[in-house]
Amino acid sequence: MPDLPSVLTIDGPSGSGKGTISRAVAARLGWHYLDSGALYRAIGVAAGWADIDLSDPSSLVRCAFDTEIGFREAGGEPRVIVNGVDATDELRTETAGAAASAIAAIPEVRSALKERQRAFRRSPGLVADGRDMGTVIFPDARHKVFLTASAEERAERRYKQLKDKGVSVTLDGLLREILARDARDASRAVAPLRPADDAVRIDTTGLGIETVVDRVLALMEP
Ligand code: DC
Repeated sequence: MPDLPSVLTIDGPSGSGKGTISRAVAARLGWHYLDSGALYRAIGVAAGWADIDLSDPSSLVRCAFDTEIGFREAGGEPRVIVNGVDATDELRTETAGAAASAIAAIPEVRSALKERQRAFRRSPGLVADGRDMGTVIFPDARHKVFLTASAEERAERRYKQLKDKGVSVTLDGLLREILARDARDASRAVAPLRPADDAVRIDTTGLGIETVVDRVLALMEP
């Protein structure tokens, strides 16, 4: 059997810088990129469009199988297409994040997305960003990173992002939301957020993007 393409997994809590770092590392390596959180968010958004209740697991599982999700690049910006509609902006909202976190706790939804995520493993390699990339989806990945940052710094990063977009939020409220989401993601029965035993942890508190990107790339040198 031919060797499978290489995978670098980058897991961690929201606001740890995963998305930005993973995209930058994938660009530097010329590898493909999987934003697994966008899949969960897309199912959450599609469920909302179809008026599916977040407490109706069987309909959510059907929705996870049926929803078409595509990734495109437009003007250098990644766009996510859900059932033929560009849903990129809606996917980034707090409502979509909360829906994603709720449906991500349903084991059958996670199973429904397993093979879809593995299909992103293509030559010359894949950078996979999420919560369980190194533990469940690509346990055989050669390189595994777990990014962390203090809850206060993660809340501040999110606060800046939202303020730039003109969204009115309070730092306190965001910190509370982040802590609640962390607790839910870490305590769920299936695929809880935890570093793989063989993952290298990097605390990004106080570090710039380029520093973290360089550290990740340095880990991959033979
Ligand atoms: O990374 P993100 O904020 O876009 O993820 C949204 C939610 O989806 C998050 O609360 C946890 C869940 N998620 C998950 O359970 N497993 C993944 N691999 C990615 C995201």
